[in-house]
Amino acid sequence: MNIYYLTLFPEMYEGILSSSILKRAEDKGLVNYQTLNFREYANNKHNQVDDYPYGGGAGMVLKPEPVYRAMDEIDLDNARVLLMCPSGRRFDQTFAEELSTEENIVFINGHYEGYDERIRKLATDEVSIGDYVLTGGEIASMAMTDAIVRLIPGVIQKESHENDSFSTGMLEHPHYTRPREYRGMKVPDVLLSGDHKKIEEWRYEESLKRTRERRPDLLEENEK
Ligand code: ADE
Repeated sequence: MNIYYLTLFPEMYEGILSSSILKRAEDKGLVNYQTLNFREYANNKHNQVDDYPYGGGAGMVLKPEPVYRAMDEIDLDNARVLLMCPSGRRFDQTFAEELSTEENIVFINGHYEGYDERIRKLATDEVSIGDYVLTGGEIASMAMTDAIVRLIPGVIQKESHENDSFSTGMLEHPHYTRPREYRGMKVPDVLLSGDHKKIEEWRYEESLKRTRERRPDLLEENEK
């Protein structure tokens, strides 16, 4: 998979993309990350990427030319082009699974009051990571990258994400490791029993209980 980030702040990506599993995925040749600073495509005297809104009003608007030119440079006709904005489709695990099968993904990250409406024409999807407003799309695109890349076959063991919260439609069951008892808190006996069927049943019940308590909306969604 190739992932491109159109951004005015490529340095924001450095730490995230060169650490942990995202880095390992690149080292294994399973993904390739590329940041493009679209200020370099502004093509005007002061490398200006934003301007005042026609009709007046507060805030600046991202100009179309730098973004269109950067997209010309990437020159892909089969990419998923994701425009990051709070009014987009809500990102979730199902969407992450879908995107993990793409060959090329482009994130367009705005940083101002808004995008010139013509920029939206470049996007296949407008995406939000939640109902809150960030100062720009970068952090949102990094969170999405993390969720997507870990699902690419070969990046982590399949078993590690098959039982993830949301993949099963429920939250994940509790986990325990050694010691058997810590400050009076004991590991449930069933996990020490060696009875795999019983353990599976316990995990399922605990998942269900946790989902009922914390996210009943997920269970209602499954029933639809
Ligand atoms: N840009 C600003 N806020 C955002 C959000 N919630 N999701 C995606 N991109 C954004």
